Amino acid sequence: MAYDCYDSLNAMIIAQISDSHIDPESDKLEDRLKDLRRVVDDINNQDPAPNIVIHTGDVVHNGTQEKYDMALTILGDVRIPLHVCAGNRDDRNLIAANFQTGRDVSPRSDFLQYSIDDYPVRLIALDTTSAITNMGDYCRERADTLNRMLAEERQKPTVLFMHHPPFEIVDSKYPFQFEDWDTVTYLAGVLKKNEHVKQLFCGHTHRCSNGKILGIPASTVPSIAIDLRLGDVPEGAEFAPVYQIHKFDGTRFKSKTVVC
Ligand SMILES: [Fe+2]
Repeated sequence: MAYDCYDSLNAMIIAQISDSHIDPESDKLEDRLKDLRRVVDDINNQDPAPNIVIHTGDVVHNGTQEKYDMALTILGDVRIPLHVCAGNRDDRNLIAANFQTGRDVSPRSDFLQYSIDDYPVRLIALDTTSAITNMGDYCRERADTLNRMLAEERQKPTVLFMHHPPFEIVDSKYPFQFEDWDTVTYLAGVLKKNEHVKQLFCGHTHRCSNGKILGIPASTVPSIAIDLRLGDVPEGAEFAPVYQIHKFDGTRFKSKTVVC
């Protein structure tokens, strides 16, 4: 079956999904599988079709192969390329083993950061997970890798996708999603030198929110799992999972929340 893509030369459509938290130990397992199925079916029926789907982490709840197998029975049906960044509930090695990633400039690193270079917008997945907490973390090693990736291609607009948002979530009880806010300065230090980074897409908060880091727009999407969702959702979405479509028109992104 042929799918039309947004066809203007420098335009691109990204579908962003997040926080599906597939968990056989939860009494909400069946609901979460249904929520994920509805999202995948909706994305497959989008017209024009998105060029790419990004999942901004927490595919499963406390990653094991069994749980990724379960998630893949549904995510395997996405008909366009799907790329995943690691969330705090994921296992980054299992993410790398089970999903298509991208080009890795530091293959010996413990962190899962990679670039996707095939589209008018370059996408870079960041690894913001911490070895000791569920909150975000960043460090010099990850920042150096990001800096090298960004230096390779300065002409193309670039977006970063990552699990933990590096901006204040003003309407949340938990506005700061990094354990030590100083670690965000590693990321900010890189962004300061790379004006071709146009946008950051994040997950983790399970709610819709918008902010900025050094003037660069950044946002989070609600969790696919309805039982874990926080904050306001669009009218009609009380019992429906949601995700976001980000359309790049050659200059900037316009985002909308899609109710399945
Ligand atoms: Fe998370």
